[in-house]
Amino acid sequence: MILAVGCDHAGYELPHPYMPAIIAHLEGLGHEVVHVGTYGPESVDYPDFADKVCAAVLEGRAERGVLMCGTGIGVSIAANRHLGIRAAVCATEEMVSLSREHNDANVLCLGRRILSLELCAQFLDIWLNTPFSGGERHCRRVAKLG
Ligand code: RB5
Repeated sequence: MILAVGCDHAGYELPHPYMPAIIAHLEGLGHEVVHVGTYGPESVDYPDFADKVCAAVLEGRAERGVLMCGTGIGVSIAANRHLGIRAAVCATEEMVSLSREHNDANVLCLGRRILSLELCAQFLDIWLNTPFSGGERHCRRVAKLG
């Protein structure tokens, strides 16, 4: 799958920058990563990178997106301002799988200061392998999102 990946400085927070490890994890699984930045720990504004990931998904340059900020909240708020983006900020495995099964989420938002790196990798594995249920009521509700 082609994945657009972006974060603010939290994704590169020292002493353990998560984003390079997440990209290596995704590439190790055989995915193609389009990294839209940021690329280091210097302070930036999360909406700018949420916008870049959403543009890649909406323009068809990526099938889905992965975003990271300190909590995952900022990037999810920014991403959900884009019509056609269904961004889910998740803190449990159940939220991750249901974001796909029920909401057909096309962007996963992760919190660097909330989740361990291991949990981020685990969440990505689940999220990338869980299909939308396609159930009638879920299709109807997702259609109402526009
Ligand atoms: C940046 O320090 C932090 O506010 C941001 O990464 C994010 O958590 C906002 O929601």
